[in-house]
Amino acid sequence: MKAVVLRQPAGLDHLELVDLNDPGAPGAGEIRVRIHASSLNFHDLGVVKGRLPTADGRIPMSDGAGIVEAIGEGVTEFSVGDSVVSCFFPQWLDGGPDIGDFSTTPGDGVDGYACEYVVRPAHWFTRAPRGYSHTQAATLTTAGLTAWRALVVDAALKAGDSVLVLGTGGVSIFALQIAKYMGAQVIVTSSSDEKLARAQTLGADHVINYLREPNWGAKVIELTQGRGVDHVIEVGGPDTLDQSIDACRIGGHIALIGVLTGIVGQVPTVTLMRRQQILQGLVVGSRKHQIDMVRAIEATGLKPVVDRTFQLNAIADAFRHQEAGKHFGKICLSI
Ligand SMILES: NC(=O)c1ccc[n+]([C@@H]2O[C@H](COP(=O)([O-])OP(=O)(O)OC[C@H]3O[C@@H](n4cnc5c(N)ncnc54)[C@H](OP(=O)(O)O)[C@@H]3O)[C@@H](O)[C@H]2O)c1
Repeated sequence: MKAVVLRQPAGLDHLELVDLNDPGAPGAGEIRVRIHASSLNFHDLGVVKGRLPTADGRIPMSDGAGIVEAIGEGVTEFSVGDSVVSCFFPQWLDGGPDIGDFSTTPGDGVDGYACEYVVRPAHWFTRAPRGYSHTQAATLTTAGLTAWRALVVDAALKAGDSVLVLGTGGVSIFALQIAKYMGAQVIVTSSSDEKLARAQTLGADHVINYLREPNWGAKVIELTQGRGVDHVIEVGGPDTLDQSIDACRIGGHIALIGVLTGIVGQVPTVTLMRRQQILQGLVVGSRKHQIDMVRAIEATGLKPVVDRTFQLNAIADAFRHQEAGKHFGKICLSI
């Protein structure tokens, strides 16, 4: 089968299209999946660029979607022909988080989905939403589930709440869509007026160009009549956290998701304390969260925003497109 492997030292020029042995028939409790699509995340970029060290020959990509081709003995949840999507933490089935690293995450600690076929334990996948293409389904594993977890699981979002999402990448656009479907008011920031106009077509109530408005926290306060937003989707990290704290209401919730501006920084502790906000770090979600999200998607009809799809053999170009930061929503791979 065709697959892409990452040679060490890592780098976009060290992604190699190879022929690997077919993984064969599933054993007891396993399914064989023909992978048709994947999607790119900042995490995958970190792996292929070597910021997140991994083994020589690793098959990258955490997200995978495709069709069940065969089921092993004892598998009852899936049938041949089912459309499925992979889980970011295959061992985190339910309950609160108990994994604090990426050693079990496909495309990082173990092989991922930049390949045509996999044989995996059935619980490494969930059903994909009915009516979704494989490309659409592949956007859910990381970006979709992170936005869902932040807003619905951790923040208990409800109609009438207000949400601030930073930028227009994969997680943020999912957060915008989920928040709108759940009846929230949404403010979106971006470096691009064109992207902000697109965000408005998805229902954004207010938009802010964060390059023109470096003190966007104060602008959010103004747009919310002095109150601040209930929830912040904080994907920027050290260079954006102080503005996110300014933008969030007293007692509000900040989902600390991203590291786009770096991995270490200062926290304005007094402001955070005085405003009595909940600053919650999170990493994606459990298999149960994914099952709940798929059900919600089927109920609402939410469709992910796919910026562009590349073929598997153009995976390095796909990552270059991501690095260029021109995308809006998700970049995908067709396999
Ligand atoms: N904790 C988790 O579970 C989890 C899961 C998924 C992702 N993440 C993290 O979340 C972040 C976003 O991931 P992603 O996959 O959505 O990335 P992405 O699709 O590559 O998003 C990049 C976008 O972020 C925006 N951005 C960049 N710098 C910004 C800044 N200083 N202020 C505001 N927005 C900025 C830009 O939007 P504009 O072009 O509109 O300016 C850019 O297009 C990454 O750090 C990633 O590692 C964490």
